[in-house]
Amino acid sequence: MDPIVYERYRAFLQEQTGVWLRQGQTALLRARLAERMKTLDIHEEAAYLRLIQSDQSGEELRCFINAITTNTTSFFRTPEHFRIFADHIRDWKRRGGSRYRVWCSASSSGEEPWSIAMVLAHEAPDWLNQDVKVLATDIDTNVLRTARNASYPAPTVAAVPKDMSVRFLVADRGSNEPSFSIRPDLRAMVSFARLNLTQLPYPMRGPFDVIFCRNVLIYFDHETRTEVITAMLELLHPRGILILGPSESALGLDHLVIRTTDSVYQRREPK
Ligand SMILES: C[S@@+](CC[C@H](N)C(=O)[O-])C[C@H]1O[C@@H](n2cnc3c(N)ncnc32)[C@H](O)[C@@H]1O
Repeated sequence: MDPIVYERYRAFLQEQTGVWLRQGQTALLRARLAERMKTLDIHEEAAYLRLIQSDQSGEELRCFINAITTNTTSFFRTPEHFRIFADHIRDWKRRGGSRYRVWCSASSSGEEPWSIAMVLAHEAPDWLNQDVKVLATDIDTNVLRTARNASYPAPTVAAVPKDMSVRFLVADRGSNEPSFSIRPDLRAMVSFARLNLTQLPYPMRGPFDVIFCRNVLIYFDHETRTEVITAMLELLHPRGILILGPSESALGLDHLVIRTTDSVYQRREPK
């Protein structure tokens, strides 16, 4: 790919999603665009970029973003975070809370929000009679479809702890490969929506008791990261927690946050 065209893609992707492709990742970009370009019978990357930029409907931009995002995820990824989350729910229950909101802000194909829902239903078994909800958002409409569908191959659900898989998963019938679905009653807890984290302000009012923003900030530059975290803190309940990925941090935001443990933050209240 012509280096000038690559630079145009980099700038365009950053502008649209906040995601920074590293320099020299031409092969990665080509591989991710290949299928879509083949479908459209387009042979030049420059021509495809022109198409995305001229498409008024925004549909081709969505296809481009879906093709380019990295969606790696798993059930109960970073188990320590789920222990901290369970403690937070217990604390809320001890204080007699009746409303609890979680925002999973880069939910990918659903393994993360469904893990969150399982922990919530486990710790607050009476959740159906309370105001308990999880909002799961992502920029990629393909992964959101998988997340809503809530059916996963057996190797994918192997990471779900045994006590939870027995309660919250049901074996799918009639599929060639063994697969499992999230139980219908749990599905009522989670709603899914497309949301671009770099488009501020966010449409939700909050407050959220917990915000998961894991393994997405790494793709953003420092300025975008700061804007996203600042906007999230505004939506966080004073007793709420913001959980970032293990290699992410709220660096430079000490005036706004208190780090409670690795990659878990609380709002710093003004003195
Ligand atoms: C590596 S996955 C992480 C998934 C999950 N949070 C986890 O930790 O397992 C990153 C996700 O961020 C999403 N993403 C990337 N840029 C985004 C943006 N600007 N707004 C919202 N989601 C975005 C991608 O579509 C992808 O599903």
